[in-house]
Amino acid sequence: KLSKAVIDSAPKVELHMHLEGSLEPKLLFALAQRNNVDCGYESLEALQKAYNFSNLQSFLDVYYAGANVLLHEQDFYDLTWAYVLKCHAQNVRHIEPFFDPQTHLERGVSFETIINGIDRALIDAQSQFGMSSMLIMCFLRHLDQESAFTTLELAKSHLSKISGVGLDSSELGNPPEKFSEVFEKSRELGLKLVAHAGEEGPASYIWSAINDLQVQRIDHGVRAIEDEQLMRHLAQIRMPLTVCPLSNTKLKVFEHMSQHNIFQLLDKGLCVTVNSDDPAYFGGYMNENFHALYQDLAMSASQFKQLLSNSVEASFASQARKLQLQ
Ligand code: ADE
Ligand code: ZN
Repeated sequence: KLSKAVIDSAPKVELHMHLEGSLEPKLLFALAQRNNVDCGYESLEALQKAYNFSNLQSFLDVYYAGANVLLHEQDFYDLTWAYVLKCHAQNVRHIEPFFDPQTHLERGVSFETIINGIDRALIDAQSQFGMSSMLIMCFLRHLDQESAFTTLELAKSHLSKISGVGLDSSELGNPPEKFSEVFEKSRELGLKLVAHAGEEGPASYIWSAINDLQVQRIDHGVRAIEDEQLMRHLAQIRMPLTVCPLSNTKLKVFEHMSQHNIFQLLDKGLCVTVNSDDPAYFGGYMNENFHALYQDLAMSASQFKQLLSNSVEASFASQARKLQLQ
């Protein structure tokens, strides 16, 4: 029988988590002080008041402001290491975190500074905890494709540290097809492909991510529910959806967790997974997301088991590693 204790102790995999979104207020203030950067908030209370989001954009404004305190390699190490420690405490054994290089390049931080800090923490995660990882570099979709190409060019000398590319930021008005060429180029370089689609955007954006970008996973994808044919297709090709329950309620994709459609999608045979998205901003990491499904949607033991095994199936880990994770 399922309980919070069973949820907490189960081995887990996380496939949709933005490192910049794991910046906890305490580390944010410490880095602001260490780097002599004005973080824009007087106090912890003032900062937490800003965490009252009405949609994706109102969150992104706060998320990009918070990222301003990240300047040096050690900052990116500390950020990533804090997330690794959380994962270890929650028995998360394999992670595929996202990072947004353009957010930092814009402020004069070099690509090397970012990637070396993150990579060193992921290497330590492997050696200290046996935690495996695959790093995913996201392009910001509110910027143009030219900027994404520049970013990909910078990444070329670090491809041993990067497993894939993704697409995030403001979805409405920035459909996947805007990035067809840079995704094609990424695929030629041997990178895995994922994209946010169907979070705030319509089901047609999910079709576009599949057909125009040839992604191997859809991040969010909850608006697939509006297109029966799409749902049948997603189920048939076992296209994974990396669903983020707490994120979706904080950003008002669903008014309340009791209205979340995750188990409707699961019942339709889709390869649905559970993830935290931006855990420092949305009220929790992996365990807290599962707790919410247990409390508000009466998640059963068999549903929990299915969600865990879907994450292993949907991961980019090697076949040998997947066997260990099952
Ligand atoms: N960047 C960080 N979190 C995001 C989300 N939920 N959607 C789009 N871009 C993001
Ligand atoms: Zn996301």
